[in-house]
Amino acid sequence: MSKIYASMLSIGAYSPEKRLTNADLEKMVDTTDEWIVKRTGIKERRVAADDQAASDLGAIAARQAIERANLAIGDIDLIIAATLSGDFLFMPSTAAVIAGKLGALNIPAFDALAACSGFIYALATAKAYVESGMASNALIVGAEASSRFMDYSDRSVCVLFGDGAGAAVIGATDDPSKAIADVKISSDGAQWDNLYIDGGSKNPIREGKPHKPFMRMKGNETFKLAVRALSNDVIEILARNNLNASQIAHFVPHQANLRIIKAVGEAIGLREDQVVLTIDRYGNTSAASIPMAINDLYEAKRLKTGDLMLLDAFGGGLTWGSALVRFGGETPR
Ligand code: UT7
Repeated sequence: MSKIYASMLSIGAYSPEKRLTNADLEKMVDTTDEWIVKRTGIKERRVAADDQAASDLGAIAARQAIERANLAIGDIDLIIAATLSGDFLFMPSTAAVIAGKLGALNIPAFDALAACSGFIYALATAKAYVESGMASNALIVGAEASSRFMDYSDRSVCVLFGDGAGAAVIGATDDPSKAIADVKISSDGAQWDNLYIDGGSKNPIREGKPHKPFMRMKGNETFKLAVRALSNDVIEILARNNLNASQIAHFVPHQANLRIIKAVGEAIGLREDQVVLTIDRYGNTSAASIPMAINDLYEAKRLKTGDLMLLDAFGGGLTWGSALVRFGGETPR
């Protein structure tokens, strides 16, 4: 029997209509367009409409990914959602809510809780399910309405994040030229306090206790940890697959900071034209940023069947990861 490989069969995404520009933020906090662009590369980000939760954004991206894989909802037999801004605090999972919206019932659905690295954690899990035969067509979704957890008086965080969603169908192939070649995920829970959202059992939201479940980040520390962890990670994943940077068609990094992306690209000697950037338009969309960026490539007709993508992400946990993915979907016409 030939080996089964997991393959990214399709990609889809959705970004809400409302734009929040740097000029808008200048009116809300003590910041400038110049500071934000210079330090992060972000020019604007999207904000979900009042009646849109993370699952609403995710369900739109999911439908597109399923359609582009030429599959029906009934073909999906696993849903994994990655989010740090799920519809509910802890239950139900956003994956279950998305499954309900899609009408994908009686299948396993759960969240991969790894903040901005969530899509790569979901990818690793889906790969294992498909390669073991436990799933045939897994839907993985990164969906964020993180604007709901922004403290719009904290300029160090609120200028960074935006809302959006991306999704991919991970199916089976016997063709290694369309396979997810490798996924590597890691964590360092001893450093959780660099990046978190409060409100859980450690510091619960209770009546009579003023409490704001906002995202908090030690930006500069996180920046340095991210550059170090991601540079080492991409060097290692390339080495253990006997690949070098020139063989990468597209580097699709988590879009947290342009300076982090450039530093990691330089660590492995990537050319600028290999790097996929969406940060200027969407900001940091956390677990959605990688699938949204892959979707941008796809819609620009720059993603061909078999193209080798290098993905990386770093986020709360702390968590990080990287992946080598040969696109298994059809090239858009
Ligand atoms: O996606 C999850 C992982 N996240 C990341 O990887 C993000 C990592 N961190 C970063 O991207 C960067 O650290 C930031 C963009 C958050 C901050 O950039 P930085 O170059 O590390 O700045 P800093 O935190 O060292 O702050 C420098 C100065 C400070 O002022 P003083 O103390 O030098 O007077 C800040 O108060 O910039 C100030 N500052 C701002 N000024 C204008 C911080 N935020 C702003 C702002 N506008 N929005």
